[in-house]
Amino acid sequence: MEQKWLVFVALPSLVIFLTISFTIFSIRVKSPQGAPSSDNPILLNQTSQFSILIGILTRPDNYDRRHFLRLIYGIQSSSIANIDVKFIFCNLTKPEQRIFVALEIMRYDDIVILNCIENMNNGKTYTYFSSLPRILTNHYDYVMKADDDVYIRLDPLALSLQPLPRLDLYYGFVIPCASMNPFVDYMSGMGFLLSWDLIEWIAESDIPANNTFGPEDKQVGKWLKMGNKAKNRFTIKPAMYDYPGTNGRCSHELIPETMAVHRLKRWDQWLHVLNFFNVTKELKQSSLYIF
Ligand SMILES: *[C@@H]1O[C@H](CO)[C@@H](O)[C@H](O)[C@H]1NC(C)=O
Ligand SMILES: *[C@@H]1O[C@H](CO)[C@@H](O)[C@H](O)[C@H]1NC(C)=O
Ligand SMILES: *[C@@H]1O[C@H](CO)[C@@H](O)[C@H](O)[C@H]1NC(C)=O
Ligand SMILES: *[C@@H]1O[C@H](CO)[C@@H](O)[C@H](O)[C@H]1NC(C)=O
Repeated sequence: MEQKWLVFVALPSLVIFLTISFTIFSIRVKSPQGAPSSDNPILLNQTSQFSILIGILTRPDNYDRRHFLRLIYGIQSSSIANIDVKFIFCNLTKPEQRIFVALEIMRYDDIVILNCIENMNNGKTYTYFSSLPRILTNHYDYVMKADDDVYIRLDPLALSLQPLPRLDLYYGFVIPCASMNPFVDYMSGMGFLLSWDLIEWIAESDIPANNTFGPEDKQVGKWLKMGNKAKNRFTIKPAMYDYPGTNGRCSHELIPETMAVHRLKRWDQWLHVLNFFNVTKELKQSSLYIF
């Protein structure tokens, strides 16, 4: 008799519990801010709140660098953001690139080839940002431009963005080196980030289109100033910097709270950085290899 009563009480409670759980779960899935925008279903994560595209500007011939960076970013993840890393270059120019780059795309699908001729300060960054609304099927909350000699730590990046505005945001390492004021002057090209509304503005406005020549990072600062845009600005110093001893006051020693280190040109510098952040410490033991 008592057991029957238990069922009478427990069953409705279970139904209510399941309904509530399901409701919470559905709301999470449809989290409005961070509507999953990745084309890659593996990267969709119900817990993520926002999405970031990191475009690494590089050249078609830098095959080895891309393979290395795929390792660097492939072993990282963030629990709060969907982060896609893509390599950005201009038109292919050599017959062998059509084969080798095609192989990379077939295997990794992480390459964007823009309609431009390879250059650094002749508008590649403009072409990158302004092409995105047209060529992407989904938008991201944030778009970053990064160099191929920078090491970005994805979780610190996402955590630093979590409390910041999703709109009208310009984020990075403010230049000049000693400045801590994100309004003076512009964010260094090592890696800076814009919210999606600013990407759309860059694609539509005459201001960027008329000012594409000259140092790309400085130009972006100029566009935003001329357009009276990016009222929300954030400099991530000291968590972002040039590798120790490579660039005067823009450099300092490695620190645990690092988001990104720039100017990694040599293997010994990469080694130092990977060791410092204990990147390979999680390596599992196995009978297949001896360490
Ligand atoms: C989603 O995020 C959770 C929490 O960090 C993590 O445990 C899980 O592996 C992630 N799932 C995918 C598919 O990335
Ligand atoms: C890039 O390549 C495409 C296809 O070959 C061509 O139509 C376009 O004019 C090229 N763009 C530039 C800037 O050279
Ligand atoms: C951009 O350049 C075009 C052509 O030279 C000119 O008509 C237009 O006024 C310029 N726009 C801005 C915002 O400078
Ligand atoms: C790396 O591991 C060492 C030893 O466990 C620890 O003392 C150090 O704080 C770790 N470094 C970082 C950046 O987490």
